[in-house]
Amino acid sequence: MYNSKIIGLGKYLPDNVVTNDDLSKMMDTNDAWIQERTGIKERRWIKEGTGDTSAVMGAKAAKIAIERSGLTKDDIDFIVFATLSPDYYFPGCGVQIQDMLGMKTVGALDIRNQCSGFIYAMSVADQFIKTGMYKNVLIIGSEYHSGGLEKSTRGRGVTVIFGDGAGAAVLSRTEDNTKGILSSHLHSEGKYAEELTVLGPSIKHWVPEILEANDPDDTSYYPYMNGTFVFKHAVARFSEVIMEGLVANNLKKEDIDMLIPHQANLRISQFIQKKFGLRDDQVFNNIQKYGNTTAASIIIALTEAWEEEKIKEGDTVVLAAFGSGFTWGSVIIKW
Ligand code: UT7
Repeated sequence: MYNSKIIGLGKYLPDNVVTNDDLSKMMDTNDAWIQERTGIKERRWIKEGTGDTSAVMGAKAAKIAIERSGLTKDDIDFIVFATLSPDYYFPGCGVQIQDMLGMKTVGALDIRNQCSGFIYAMSVADQFIKTGMYKNVLIIGSEYHSGGLEKSTRGRGVTVIFGDGAGAAVLSRTEDNTKGILSSHLHSEGKYAEELTVLGPSIKHWVPEILEANDPDDTSYYPYMNGTFVFKHAVARFSEVIMEGLVANNLKKEDIDMLIPHQANLRISQFIQKKFGLRDDQVFNNIQKYGNTTAASIIIALTEAWEEEKIKEGDTVVLAAFGSGFTWGSVIIKW
């Protein structure tokens, strides 16, 4: 058995900064409410005409990750792409990466697990490497939320939270079983699927039906979130799945050098930090700058933490996420 190790990290955020004050010009909201409830000060939203999409941003982040890995695109054996905002209904964004980066005709897989998408993507890539099937796997998390948000007072409960961006990592085979991804832990509870969802267009609620109804109150094609319900489940599941990862590796809370939680809400991260008795320098948050970028949030945060030299060789790094599905998971890494 092999282990897989991160050998390259990259991120891409659109230039266009949207502050809370900018949002208050579009809807009835304000900086104080957003900061107090979520910790978010600003987010990036793709500006029309830039050509950025989930796949395009993913390709930009991937190029950086591959370059930093010291490999070339021709060394990559497989692509895993996590997003809830793909460029097309189908096919997924993974195949676009194969084309955009001019890669060999390697396999490409899209992951539909929303906020825990990157955790699932890492786990899938890790299994391919552990079994020996692939040596180098490119994993990407990317989201173009802003194009699909309702930018009015009706949508404010969701719209102020989400941002656009992408991150990527190259996972590579290592024969040192004490390093790299030690374990991953994945969960789902589908009975809550409609607590955080975009209902349509879907095969159950297809375009002609939506157009024919012409119902101004039909918000089914905008994201819906039962915020307080999701919040309660998030804090419980985050804690459980981090603990599950620690126990599986005979680790204790005190062994965590860096926790990178999915950036859903600064209040959730602070709750987890307190629960695990971690210092500020043991938890990385950047939701203040980027909002919630769903499948991209963990990999953007991991890349930024690494760029800022907050992660060093030998550190125990814990990644954890919770979101729509519900799905949740954790990954324990020895850096
Ligand atoms: O990443 C996937 C997982 N997602 C999460 O984990 C998110 C979990 N949930 C949350 O982060 C929080 O529930 C939110 C930030 C989404 C909402 O915070 P909340 O404290 O649960 O607020 P609320 O939805 O209960 O709304 C409180 C009030 C309401 O007004 P009334 O009914 O009390 O008069 C809302 O209409 O705040 C109002 N409100 C707003 N006011 C100003 C909702 N959105 C806004 C807004 N600006 N943007």
